[in-house]
Amino acid sequence: MTAVCWDHVFAAVPRRPYIPDVVWTDSDQPLDRKTDPEAWADAVAADIPLVTQMDDGADGGGLFPSSSASMPSLVRLMLDHLAVRPDHRVLELGTGTGWNTALLATALTEGKVISIEVDPVLAAQAEENLFACDIEPFVIVGDGLQGYPGGAPYDRVVATMAVQRVPYEWAEQVKPGGVILTPWGTAFHNSGLLRLVVDGDGDGTASGRFVGSVNFMWARSQRRRFDTREFVGDVIADPDAARVRHTTTDPRPLGEEHADFAIGLCLPEVEQRTYFGRGDAAGEYTQWLSDGQSWASVDYKPGADSFEVNESGPRDLWAEAETAFEEWRNRGEPPREQHGVTVTPNGQWTWFDGPTGRVRIGPAPVA
Ligand SMILES: C[S@@+](CC[C@H](N)C(=O)[O-])C[C@H]1O[C@@H](n2cnc3c(N)ncnc32)[C@H](O)[C@@H]1O
Repeated sequence: MTAVCWDHVFAAVPRRPYIPDVVWTDSDQPLDRKTDPEAWADAVAADIPLVTQMDDGADGGGLFPSSSASMPSLVRLMLDHLAVRPDHRVLELGTGTGWNTALLATALTEGKVISIEVDPVLAAQAEENLFACDIEPFVIVGDGLQGYPGGAPYDRVVATMAVQRVPYEWAEQVKPGGVILTPWGTAFHNSGLLRLVVDGDGDGTASGRFVGSVNFMWARSQRRRFDTREFVGDVIADPDAARVRHTTTDPRPLGEEHADFAIGLCLPEVEQRTYFGRGDAAGEYTQWLSDGQSWASVDYKPGADSFEVNESGPRDLWAEAETAFEEWRNRGEPPREQHGVTVTPNGQWTWFDGPTGRVRIGPAPVA
């Protein structure tokens, strides 16, 4: 069977019918089709992501985006990585607007796409959008992290929400040699597009490398557990809790994506935030790390060759980040794409340059 011609499919399936009347672009202000139809149409036609739901649909101040129509060029990139054939059976996780579901349904033989959306309101809206475009959808309301055994085995599983842990259920429900494509990140840095191939021996493991950079919203149950800003507030109220030292490690490489990605593999549950305080004008800032129990801060001053570090709690988080950074440098500063993940019935592990190069998590062993 021949490969899918995505140019034709994209031409036949525009995203406009799937976009709700109210969207958010890069500002907090909603863009409403009724009050500003031209700006709405321009945004829909542009190669940008459109947030389509805030705060899981709750009334409120628009605190966090909870669903979106992804950037069209990124949707295309992911479909290219998925490498589907028209006869493939595909499980999609995170239906959202239903546009990606429509692209898949148009490319594949009828009835070969199943899509799962955790939010019932969004799932119903996506179904409505798909029916209006003459596509008969198979949309299920549920937790995509469980997959959908009723439709297995699949040739492909594609997620459009980010996970910190790839569920083994996905590997179990894909045929040997089949592909799982998912955004993947750590609390430290969320930027990996992971492509796993399920083992041909049928032992249920799946393994593969990161193939690109994406930034998707988290699967609902894998969202971050705490907000560093609140945590930092507590810390400031108790400055005496800190162990103070100085380091010559410049904190600026934190924020560089490949360094952050690699540090995040060693400190997966640690969050980081940068705060520009009174010294902002002079380029000064404080970098915070926390895992909900321990915290660390480092003060950056331009031109300085030594930086003050404060650490508190059971872990020396800045020391751990420094060690992870040094290890990454000693490996030759490899990009994200030289890393990968293996998923087994007993959990996942991350690796560098092949599944045997398992990445250490947590503090380095004392020599
Ligand atoms: C980036 S949006 C999806 C974009 C969508 N593919 C499109 O083309 O419009 C991510 C979606 O994943 C959904 N989601 C989050 N966690 C989920 C889960 N555990 N299972 C299924 N869907 C989930 C969100 O509600 C959201 O609609």
